[in-house]
Amino acid sequence: MTYIGIDLGTSSIKAVLVDGRQNVLATAVRDLTVDRPALLWSEQNPADWISAALAALHGLRDASPEAFRRCAGIGLSGQMHGAVLLDERDRPLRPCMLWNDGRAAAECTEIEAAEPDSREITGNIAMPGFTAPKLLWVRRHEPDIFQQTRRVLLPKAYLRLALTGEAIEDMSDASGTLWLDVGRRDWSDRMLDATGLDRSFMPELVEGSQPAGRMRAELSRELGFDAPPLFAGGGGDNAAGAVGLGAVAPGTSFLSLGTSGVLWRTTERFEPRADSAVHAFCHALPNRWHQMSVHLSAAASLSWWASVSGQAEIALLGELGQLTERPSSVLFTPYLSGERTPYNDPQMRGGFARLGYETDRKAMTQAVLEGVAFAFREGKNALEADALPIAEAMVIGGGSRSDLWLSILADVLDMPLSRYRQAETGAAFGAARLARLACSGEDPEAVCTPPSGDVDIFAPRAARAAAYSERYEIWRRATEVSRSLC
Ligand code: XUL
Repeated sequence: MTYIGIDLGTSSIKAVLVDGRQNVLATAVRDLTVDRPALLWSEQNPADWISAALAALHGLRDASPEAFRRCAGIGLSGQMHGAVLLDERDRPLRPCMLWNDGRAAAECTEIEAAEPDSREITGNIAMPGFTAPKLLWVRRHEPDIFQQTRRVLLPKAYLRLALTGEAIEDMSDASGTLWLDVGRRDWSDRMLDATGLDRSFMPELVEGSQPAGRMRAELSRELGFDAPPLFAGGGGDNAAGAVGLGAVAPGTSFLSLGTSGVLWRTTERFEPRADSAVHAFCHALPNRWHQMSVHLSAAASLSWWASVSGQAEIALLGELGQLTERPSSVLFTPYLSGERTPYNDPQMRGGFARLGYETDRKAMTQAVLEGVAFAFREGKNALEADALPIAEAMVIGGGSRSDLWLSILADVLDMPLSRYRQAETGAAFGAARLARLACSGEDPEAVCTPPSGDVDIFAPRAARAAAYSERYEIWRRATEVSRSLC
């Protein structure tokens, strides 16, 4: 038996083919782009996800045809929070408004006024990136589209609908809609009511490791599978990453340095921390939850700086070499599309500070890496307030390929970070594990083991950690300026 994991990310779709011994046999990646048609807007066309996912499946088939044919199950992982609005024939009515779309701030206030227990039910502050406020925005600004809406799906649920014909969502991704009673793991009628919707607009709910549809027979034949693969519920990208890393026991942490930045902690119970803009969501596995700090522009900050400076990311990192002597003289605040934890402010904007004639591109690149690391430190502080400290974390995500960035992060966070070779395939690998669980019904703890094998440990170096602690205090003053200028 083999299994496939598909991660519908923001900058690309990644697919992996995994065998019964959890070896990755093939990977395929297809790029995606983001449209920003107006200030604060961030959108993608759902049709592009379908063609990229099919192209990635073809890529797996070409790389490993025999193993591909024998695939028994497919797991989906996806960028969270996006709103795909469908009409009565399940056709998208407009582009999807993504997780880093900041247009629906006024609607968040409205939701919390309409349902005063919103934070208790959902475990979270209503934030513009979440799904529910986007629906209120459409109701106000695009009433014709709201009128025609019959179903609202998250990105990976829309992909599942296209591949299986079933409207099903998993608990971890559903947590980011603001329509889920996260403690009870069920849709909340009160939260739906606060946005003028009811359960009929929502997909069926399952755990990430449960069966959730089967590939359409015709599509399965076209792709060349022996039999239509079973789908698993899957997970939001961070939850699927946790499954891939084996972050299933309470207290396990990891840091995701992807387009967004996430510091994650698995929890035994639903433990909301809404006061500090920390997210509290369901895990993709049953009977567990998690908390996370979310930073909207992590590896995306480096991509932005690469496009502005006209250099490839790899060239910018190459200029810096392996180890930086001391913190950059320049400061960078990474709020290119606002920030969630700890500010919950979509209007905030980033910036460079302390530029001089002596400033060169290297100093600015280093400031970008450090600014993102400082944002993670703010997130770590938020997670640790009145709670146990986070002592160590595994790492995942495209940015974690940079040794330099990870050593800066270890110094700034003053904790060791472990990068496992096995974690390279990230959320897609976790999704493949969920597919296996849905097919086999095995005990999740037996399958979702922590990575083993090749590991690079990035340990904090005392002198540099102390230097970064001092610099962090100065950097925080720059964040205050960023806030006051919006
Ligand atoms: C989590 C979040 C992001 C997206 C995109 O709340 O918004 O991590 O899932 O990766």
